[in-house]
Amino acid sequence: MKHLLSLRKTPAEDLIRILDRVDEMKRERASLTERPLTDQIWALIFSKSSTRTRVSFEVGVRELGGQSLFLSANEIQLGRGEPIQDTARVLGRMVHGAIIRTFDQSDVDVFAEYSGISTINALTDEEHPCQILTDLYTIQEFQGSWRDKVVTFVGDGACNVAVSWIWAAAKLGFELRIAAPKEFQPPAELLAAAGGKISCHEDPAEAADGSDVLYTDVWVSMGKEMEAGGRLQTLQGYAIDEKLVETAKPGALVMHCLPAYRGNEITESVLEANANTIFTQAENRLHTQKAIMEWTVM
Ligand code: CP
Ligand code: NVA
Repeated sequence: MKHLLSLRKTPAEDLIRILDRVDEMKRERASLTERPLTDQIWALIFSKSSTRTRVSFEVGVRELGGQSLFLSANEIQLGRGEPIQDTARVLGRMVHGAIIRTFDQSDVDVFAEYSGISTINALTDEEHPCQILTDLYTIQEFQGSWRDKVVTFVGDGACNVAVSWIWAAAKLGFELRIAAPKEFQPPAELLAAAGGKISCHEDPAEAADGSDVLYTDVWVSMGKEMEAGGRLQTLQGYAIDEKLVETAKPGALVMHCLPAYRGNEITESVLEANANTIFTQAENRLHTQKAIMEWTVM
């Protein structure tokens, strides 16, 4: 029994093992004979909104032979203040795995510790590991490999998605550039702890120059709504637009974890020109998370 709590805590060899299995999951979707979650029930405990993560996990659990149980945190006693330790000990006696989307990273870590069942981070304020594993597979699918690629993240360089990119780059050895205003660059201690080939830039064109992948995420992450006005102002100039795409390598991938806010972090025309990549990326959540769940029970 294993957990995927963060990329920070997951050894590179496990990340590679998961990534190596995704292609088969995708190709054999219709003919999959191994059903590692047979007779299992997995709970999805979500404190934040979700379209892709929720649907891809619910479908994925079923395709692996199990059943899923969606628990909105507000509708269980957790939302009325029951401690996460108690919630974990109850669910750990009833279900076989947990997929958690919440605010504090510590809630996912504590749940894993107290529940005794496989626990997967489906997004916290700190990390979004399932997303970045999916993105790496998507880069491999479109460009043959992620190993020798330069990925440039543009926007809120301190958000959960950017932080998971930092840990992925540090562990797997590819080059990551972060283009963000000073206020939204990742903390220096985090960069120092991660190491690797990671650089921060205030000039998006300098960061994007010659990149293989341009990547963005929303400017106002869930839970940061109160800061929306200031964020939208400070992040002006950090959109992926046609001019920025021209500075990347010819044929560079433009990726977005979605949901997208056209006119903020990406222009309508760039999103539509790259819709095949971006929606394949969304689809790949399913295949990647099936590989993650299989790995946790192996
Ligand atoms: N990218 C992502 O996690 O999407 P959802 O918020 O819709 O799950
Ligand atoms: N950084 C975004 C990711 C959404 C999938 C958020 O946390 O809202």
